[in-house]
Amino acid sequence: MTRSKITIPQLQSWKHEHRKITMLTAYDYPVAKLLDEAGIDVILVGDSLGMVVLGQPNTTGVTMEQMLHHAKAVRRGVSSALLVGDMPFGSFHATPEEAIRNAARFVQEAGCEAVKLEWHPGVERIAEAIVRTGIPVMGHVGLTPQTASQTGGFIVQGRDEASAQRILDAALALERAGCFAMVLECIPEPLAQDITTRLSIPAIGIGAGRYCDGQVLVTYDLLGLFQAFTPKFVKRYADLSGTITEAVSRFKQDVEQGKFPGAAQVYHIKQTTEARKVTETKATLQANR
Ligand code: KIV
Repeated sequence: MTRSKITIPQLQSWKHEHRKITMLTAYDYPVAKLLDEAGIDVILVGDSLGMVVLGQPNTTGVTMEQMLHHAKAVRRGVSSALLVGDMPFGSFHATPEEAIRNAARFVQEAGCEAVKLEWHPGVERIAEAIVRTGIPVMGHVGLTPQTASQTGGFIVQGRDEASAQRILDAALALERAGCFAMVLECIPEPLAQDITTRLSIPAIGIGAGRYCDGQVLVTYDLLGLFQAFTPKFVKRYADLSGTITEAVSRFKQDVEQGKFPGAAQVYHIKQTTEARKVTETKATLQANR
């Protein structure tokens, strides 16, 4: 059954209906298609691309060109989910004009329906400028990987009163700037619950506990494809690393033992009936030797 298109007003109404929003990351066509067909509401082309697909140590090396390249592939696999492009480090930091230009590239070149911006002080003005051009913006507060080196690394944020207040203020500032939803990453559950209640837009948590309006995970974490490290908040729903290693080992063994390709995987030349009979007879004689 085909799903209807997920819209931003729909997601926003779900907050008030207490219907949970599901969001996952995708970086290529086949996975995007599977997520969309499984009924995921929001698909994010995350800049986690850098770490889980490109093998980089963090997300700061990811470029606009890389994001657009992957977002275009994801677009081809998504028909119902809302497609969000993650603005990479450096693409929205210099001037509002440059941020608008880059946000527009996600829409015009890759077919995204919204962009996501990680919090840093002052980013609310950038978010507001992008929203004013008509491009929907999702905010991202708490652990913000693009500036993790400034905030103590990939660790839980908002554990003390002052930093909890800063995260709450950031979320409220981005909401005032016109963001349509907010990612809350890696913060204590009570803080996430408080922010979720205070925001009138949906709060989508990742490592932010049970009381957000929705949940997002990096798909490669959920599928057990990214092995470098697994944060505590990840639940693995599959072990694709194990499945792939096992399948590839069987392929290697089959090739080495002459079992692949087998009769089912080979092509035949066109033969007359007479020639086919001769070939079959030869094959039978050979098999009976
Ligand atoms: O880049 C990403 O995958 C993200 C999610 C963790 C929300 O920003």
